[in-house]
Amino acid sequence: SAVAGQAAGKTAGPAAGSSAEPAAGEAAEPAADDAAEPAAPDGQAIPVDPAVRRSQRADFQSDAALALARRLGRPPRDIAAEVLGLADLGDLCRAEVSGPGFINLTVADSALGTLLSGMAAGERLGVVPPEVSETVVVDYSGPNVAKEMHVGHLRSTVIGDATVRLLEWLGHRVVRVNHLGDWGTPFGMLIEHLIDVGESEAAHDLSVGDLDSFYRAARVAFDADEAFGERARSRVVALQSGDADSRRLWRLLVEESEKYFLAVYDRLDVTLTEADFYPESFYNDLLGPVVDELDRLGLLTTSAGAACVFPHGFPGRDGRPLPIIVRKSDGGYGYGATDLAAIRHRTQTLGATRLLYVVGLPQRQHLEMVHQTAREAGWLSPPARAQHVGFGSVLGADGRMLRSRAGTNVKLIELLDEAVARAAELARSKSPDLDERTIAEVARAVGIGAVKYADLSTYRVKDYVFDWDRMLSLDGNTSAYLQYAHARIRSIFRRAGAVTARGDITVTEPAEHALALELLDFGDAVASTAETLEFHRLTGHLYTVATAFSAFFEQCPVLRAGDGVRDSRLALCDLTGRVLRQGLALLGIATPDRM
Ligand code: ARG
Repeated sequence: SAVAGQAAGKTAGPAAGSSAEPAAGEAAEPAADDAAEPAAPDGQAIPVDPAVRRSQRADFQSDAALALARRLGRPPRDIAAEVLGLADLGDLCRAEVSGPGFINLTVADSALGTLLSGMAAGERLGVVPPEVSETVVVDYSGPNVAKEMHVGHLRSTVIGDATVRLLEWLGHRVVRVNHLGDWGTPFGMLIEHLIDVGESEAAHDLSVGDLDSFYRAARVAFDADEAFGERARSRVVALQSGDADSRRLWRLLVEESEKYFLAVYDRLDVTLTEADFYPESFYNDLLGPVVDELDRLGLLTTSAGAACVFPHGFPGRDGRPLPIIVRKSDGGYGYGATDLAAIRHRTQTLGATRLLYVVGLPQRQHLEMVHQTAREAGWLSPPARAQHVGFGSVLGADGRMLRSRAGTNVKLIELLDEAVARAAELARSKSPDLDERTIAEVARAVGIGAVKYADLSTYRVKDYVFDWDRMLSLDGNTSAYLQYAHARIRSIFRRAGAVTARGDITVTEPAEHALALELLDFGDAVASTAETLEFHRLTGHLYTVATAFSAFFEQCPVLRAGDGVRDSRLALCDLTGRVLRQGLALLGIATPDRM
């Protein structure tokens, strides 16, 4: 945290509080204090991670003396005492040796007040901008044309949206990329089905979001009727060689689906627009050149008529390397070729140095093979790097993949409507005096927030169970709880007849002390979330802030406090409200002023 950073004499960052040995380059970095670094018997300085972390017994605890004791062969308590004797902690904190040789640190209220006042005076809430601002491509959502978006696409959309909001707020240039599946063999059968159904009829089916039944009907015809299958196959060839009528029919399919996806994004309150569509077809003209270049680089192997690459490090079951088939024997290009063209486009044309793929875990191997191939081809060289932001599945109450009652894919738009309807019911019962317009606004923020927060607050790579009651609960680690804490702060200000309070903050009470420590951790929580894209770190942080606030609010009067104290406490409320609002905004969750 900002406090641990000060105490340890190093800047705040994810490494603070980790027990890892510092890298060689960090050896020169001061530990608790230059003078406090005990010398080794031969007079050499020993680099030690100050290992300052939050603790139950004091505000912070350092285990550094224990690690040093092993290396120096001396009793840890002696070392801890010697460190403290040499440390110049000034007015920052009180320190004592405890247990086998821990150093316990309790931050002075005065220091907390100064740090908080500084945080409140700025606009960035203690978040330090990154050293270099990068161009980051975030590949997310990626639904498939003429198919229902499934809950996997929901996860990708929610996590991707939080990712772009967070990285943009930090100051990176973010390119949103929606890798829509709009190309490939299924389009032959889909176009032929569209012809059979009639254009306007088909457009209607698709526009009402009945994507799956359209797809299924096409599939049935394809499997049952040989002549249809034949038509579908020649249609793909015609489409991919640019036949005008095939292109027109294909556009029709794509446009109807795109409209549906945009409606979902709007309902979901995510920042994706039409401008962010980089569909598979976008790369069509780049596929030939990509294959030629792989060939020139000597990375291409022809096997049974198909052009393949064999990236290093991917042995199959029989130990032989696994291929990415870039061009099939019939001349058609596959999903892998498109991803290779896309990566080259992202680094070379868009100039991205960080490529993020917010895609379900089942595609991990595919993506890693694509990334490895790109490295071998020189399309992904440092500082450019790719990261798979993988995630687990969404499960129903039965522990199996979430399905509708009919056993089909859940229609995403219906799921979101249900979230908002449930939240409206909740708002009506909890706050009967809100007018209908406010109810509608609150319902949308709470309903959509609940869906997003349930996703973002679980460890990303784990599956999670979709549970309406839990996600809409007003207590516990939920968006509604955080939104409620924020609304409560806004209501304090309504009663105070003020909008904000930006004065100095003085910390005296234990509950103020505890809240201050949490608020000062915001910068670290944001930094470590941006690094790992594990949003449960940020949600967990916001949840601790909200619980510390509610303890403070129970124990410390605000509006009824005496003059000087009242202003300070109002300023503390204001800062808490800003942290909650900004934190939730980074997750794509709205914060209504009243609930
Ligand atoms: N359309 C794909 C799917 O539904 C997701 C696309 C992921 N992005 C990528 N570059 N492959 O599974």
